[in-house]
Amino acid sequence: MSIRRLPPELINRIAAGEVVERPASALKELVENSLDAGATQVSVRLSAGGLELIEVADDGCGMDPSEMRLALDRHATSKLPGDAIDRIVSFGFRGEALPSIASVSRLTMESRVRGSDGWRIEIDHGAPAGEGPAALPSGTRIRVEGLFDKVPARRKFLRSPRAEYAACLDSVKRLAMARSDVGFTLDHDGRRVLSVQPSDAPNRVAALLTHELDRHGIGIDCARDGLRLTGVISLPTFNRGMADQQYLFVNARPVKDRLLVGALRAAYRDLIARDRHPIAALFVEVPLDEVDVNVHPAKTEVRFRDAAAVRGLIVGGLRRALDDESQRSAAHEQAAAPVMWTSSATYDEELNRHPRGGGGPAASEESGVPAFAGMTALREEQRLFDHAPAARAEPAVEPVPSHPLGVARGQVAATYIVAEAEDGLVIVDQHAAHERLVLERMRVARVGGSVARQALLIPEVVELDEPDCDSLEGAAPELAQLGLELERFGPTAMLVRAVPAVLGKTDAAGLLSDLAAEIAELGGPLSLTDKLDHVAATIACHGSVRAGRLLSVAEMNALLREMEVTPRSGQCNHGRPTWVKLGHSEIERLFGRK
Ligand SMILES: Nc1ncnc2c1ncn2[C@@H]1O[C@H](COP(=O)(O)OP(=O)(O)OP(=O)(O)O)[C@@H](O)[C@H]1O
Ligand SMILES: [Mg+2]
Repeated sequence: MSIRRLPPELINRIAAGEVVERPASALKELVENSLDAGATQVSVRLSAGGLELIEVADDGCGMDPSEMRLALDRHATSKLPGDAIDRIVSFGFRGEALPSIASVSRLTMESRVRGSDGWRIEIDHGAPAGEGPAALPSGTRIRVEGLFDKVPARRKFLRSPRAEYAACLDSVKRLAMARSDVGFTLDHDGRRVLSVQPSDAPNRVAALLTHELDRHGIGIDCARDGLRLTGVISLPTFNRGMADQQYLFVNARPVKDRLLVGALRAAYRDLIARDRHPIAALFVEVPLDEVDVNVHPAKTEVRFRDAAAVRGLIVGGLRRALDDESQRSAAHEQAAAPVMWTSSATYDEELNRHPRGGGGPAASEESGVPAFAGMTALREEQRLFDHAPAARAEPAVEPVPSHPLGVARGQVAATYIVAEAEDGLVIVDQHAAHERLVLERMRVARVGGSVARQALLIPEVVELDEPDCDSLEGAAPELAQLGLELERFGPTAMLVRAVPAVLGKTDAAGLLSDLAAEIAELGGPLSLTDKLDHVAATIACHGSVRAGRLLSVAEMNALLREMEVTPRSGQCNHGRPTWVKLGHSEIERLFGRK
């Protein structure tokens, strides 16, 4: 075996394998360089999803010809002045992006420092291919053509131009969110697809995320132990089938960090179905010496010194915000304006100042759709709702105007409760709402260590197939913690000795077969607590008033009152809304009065 030093060209191509995976990653490196160069405007042009051309032009500090040559050398960087690898504030620091990209493409670099002449250097797959004067405004313009054309192994893994374009757009969006003070444009195949002016973070995020978040978002601003978390997240009811709209930043660096993604997921646990995902843009700020950014060639992962503190801040902060908002659902009308979050105010002051972030229906209705604000011409109509309704379906109950969910007026289709609130008409899905309440009750009981069980006088035998019995038998100790006591009863039957008291009279066979399916599905590496929450949700579903059951007015009102005081009651265990409200102004609109 003969050992030899690799030639630089090969070293660069090997590095390119890590740093430049696809057009979007080359683009990311180029835009990061522009931002590091102090650009206030970054213009990106792409052809065929970046496969044919990636061009990034900036108005940053520029380079003189000798700096340009050095920039294309491996391990040449201007960004670690004091060799302070532990206090990195720039995006780049490894000094390998440009030579890596240049080794797998035709790269043209043009640059001009203000007050001098411009210069151009061309590199063809790592080899110099000419240089000379260039005319351009001060700043830098880099063109990358035919990326991976001569690297068939890589080319094979590239996807369609459409898919590569989508990834490029995502890269630009992430960096544009990270640096809201910089203007960005993106043109694809001659068409302008993105253009944002310098702005502040909330407005930048609002411009780049779905506009629906203006109505269905919650502003986040909290701090703890020198860490700070700001941003916006979606209401649990406003979710997606893919986790593609989660933008996470650590000290303004876009990351796809497992710890952060996991914390986000944990904050939404049991507020959202397992296969649905929230939308989020979250900015974590930590002291520089608390985070190591040099753990991944593409710099998309970081390592925190105190990972538990970061996770705690995210789970705790988001959970608190979600609980405060828990009675709001996506079906509930909100004013459409960007959710503002950054302020020097504390979290609570922030909520007060932007009452649409302030929680329950009463608060958000006040500030959300201003029912009659500034509509003096409509005084007549306003009076229409000012006095108590003259005719009621249910005369037995006095209206108590302070209840946000109002007073029950009747039931529709034996499934929906119709209630009159001070500010509109409320419709509640009785099963969804009750299911949530049962789950929350079970959770409180379990945390308090006192799950009430109801022992069955005559244990019930439930026949199931063998694998189902095996799952249930295996989970028996956990189920006992929820108040469900089971015993194996032969190969294909289970004996039910006690059920959670919240269940009341229940169809044990249906519950057990659902639970068995649930447990089999969860099977994997979930922790005990995770499992219990899911299993509790299944039990709650069985213990809830079914759609189709007639309720008395007293029962309906009891349900409404309990919803008002129960956290997270705005959505069911599957993330659907439990209630909607038709405000007075909307009712007026329906009748053409407005
Ligand atoms: N758009 C630009 N404007 C001004 N200088 C630039 C620009 N792009 C690159 N440079 C210079 O070229 C150097 C090398 O860039 P390169 O991206 O290869 O490495 P880096 O940014 O220092 O580190 P990393 O490999 O982590 O990105 C930079 O340190 C910078 O001095
Ligand atoms: Mg760089």
